[in-house]
Amino acid sequence: MIVTTKKLFEAAYGKYAIGAYNINNLEQAMGLFRGNVESKAPFIIQISKGARSYTHKKMLEAMIRAADEIFPEAIFAVHLDHGDEQTCYDCIESGFYSSVMIDASHEPFEKNVEITRRVVEAAHARGIVVEAELGQLGGVEEHVSVDEANAHLTDPDQAKQFVELTGCDSLACAIGTSHGAYKFTGNQGLRFDVLAEIQKRLPGFPLVMHGSSSVPQEEVERINAAGGSIKGAKGVDENEFARAATLGVTKVNIDTDGRLVWTRVHREYFRDHPAEFDLRPIGKVFMAEYAKFIAHKNEKLGSAGRLDEVRAMLGK
Ligand code: G3H
Ligand code: 13P
Ligand code: ZN
Repeated sequence: MIVTTKKLFEAAYGKYAIGAYNINNLEQAMGLFRGNVESKAPFIIQISKGARSYTHKKMLEAMIRAADEIFPEAIFAVHLDHGDEQTCYDCIESGFYSSVMIDASHEPFEKNVEITRRVVEAAHARGIVVEAELGQLGGVEEHVSVDEANAHLTDPDQAKQFVELTGCDSLACAIGTSHGAYKFTGNQGLRFDVLAEIQKRLPGFPLVMHGSSSVPQEEVERINAAGGSIKGAKGVDENEFARAATLGVTKVNIDTDGRLVWTRVHREYFRDHPAEFDLRPIGKVFMAEYAKFIAHKNEKLGSAGRLDEVRAMLGK
């Protein structure tokens, strides 16, 4: 059942976070639904611009509709990840997405407000909710001073102003993370001090944490042992998700970790089965491993086991 992220956030706020997972293909879609249904978790499917054009946007939509029929117990939102203005309108008009993200965070504050406001008006007119972003994610280098590092983080006072001016439904905040596998070069981590200040100014308002992959070292080592060359990769400590949730983070974006599962499974499989050329045996291994990975993340996010209470809240 497709619901808005707003409904999921109402259920989760202050208690746990909902996993927002990016998918691109059939095997990820099947693993995603299996993992969430098996761990009884509500979830968010994220579709990026790149995912929409990887095969065809209609192909992804059709796969998700099919999965919705195959797994009738699943409760999830379908969300555009990092949309520009035109892509947001395309998703809003498609009638399929329940949530869009407008990412104008690279623009100056006023322009970001202007663009976000326009998307919010168009989306709300169709019952669709909007995530917006303020601040800039970036890798944190060890030599960077606190002042320099703070420059790109979300300013708590601006965050309050931004939400009031735009009417957005949730806010992606820069609190020290970055996209991809190389997030930190030292012992840095999430900036809970900044998050707490944002929550203080926006009590009860759903916050989003992008760049939340944990880049498990065991995964990286297995990839490298099977012929990969991923060096110095470091991610967010997944044991910190629970604390972030108590500070208002209701959506945690994870993509890179899923890509690492894909890479590890395929590298190890072909190393161990050099004569194999059927794509199905490896596809089956990947779907099972991806489902296991999703269920593990849901445990860390606290969303595992929440499906029945969310269903009751929705009156379904
Ligand atoms: O934040 C970006 C997501 O990881 C999606 O990545 O644009 O390569 O699909 P992508
Ligand atoms: P990761 O690269 O840490 O998985 O972040 C994904 C993300 O933020 C998608 O919007
Ligand atoms: Zn992101």
